[in-house]
Amino acid sequence: PRPVTTSLLPTYKILLIGDAAVGKSNLLMRFANNSFDIASRSTIGVEFVSRELELPTERDGGNERVNVQLWDTAGQERCGAISAAFFRGAKGVAVVYDCTRYPTLKNLPGWVAHAKQYADENCAFVVIGNKIDLKNLHAVSEEEAEGVAHSLGLRHFYASALTGEGVPSAFLHLILNVN
Ligand code: GTP
Ligand code: MG
Repeated sequence: PRPVTTSLLPTYKILLIGDAAVGKSNLLMRFANNSFDIASRSTIGVEFVSRELELPTERDGGNERVNVQLWDTAGQERCGAISAAFFRGAKGVAVVYDCTRYPTLKNLPGWVAHAKQYADENCAFVVIGNKIDLKNLHAVSEEEAEGVAHSLGLRHFYASALTGEGVPSAFLHLILNVN
């Protein structure tokens, strides 16, 4: 059994969704633990990890400590299987594709549409193109990726869970845009 984590801090529930093996679990581990698993297995079911973070407050220029709860899902389950309960209370959703596999970008609007069906109206979204470190294997042009994100009205970030490049910016953008 998983230890129950409680925090008295304001909690931001953030979800990661997207096709199987795009790197959701590793992005989460990079952001939460600064770690990476080269031999990571497919996620089964739903898991979450927490990380505390100092965020700038809007008015007084000070900081506020928050608890970011990152929820991981199994891409294999396809959008349909991720239930309403998972989206309940979510403040942000990171929709991830793999820069080396074009179909994972093609499937992205489907993931967003599914999420919007269940998530709160004011839930924030961001698109993350992961595995940017695999430069020779890129199968998606920046124009295509930006085009898909733009058609959904979302910001697009490149990231690598392997090197850590772009990971903080993408998550911070999402977290700072929650309502
Ligand atoms: P599911 O749980 O099956 O939905 O997959 P996932 O989206 O959680 O992918 P996961 O994080 O398990 O990563 C899949 C594979 O890609 C693993 O072999 C990772 O080591 C690898 N991987 C993940 N992120 C990166 C990255 O940024 N760069 C490289 N080169 N490999 C990555
Ligand atoms: Mg996973």
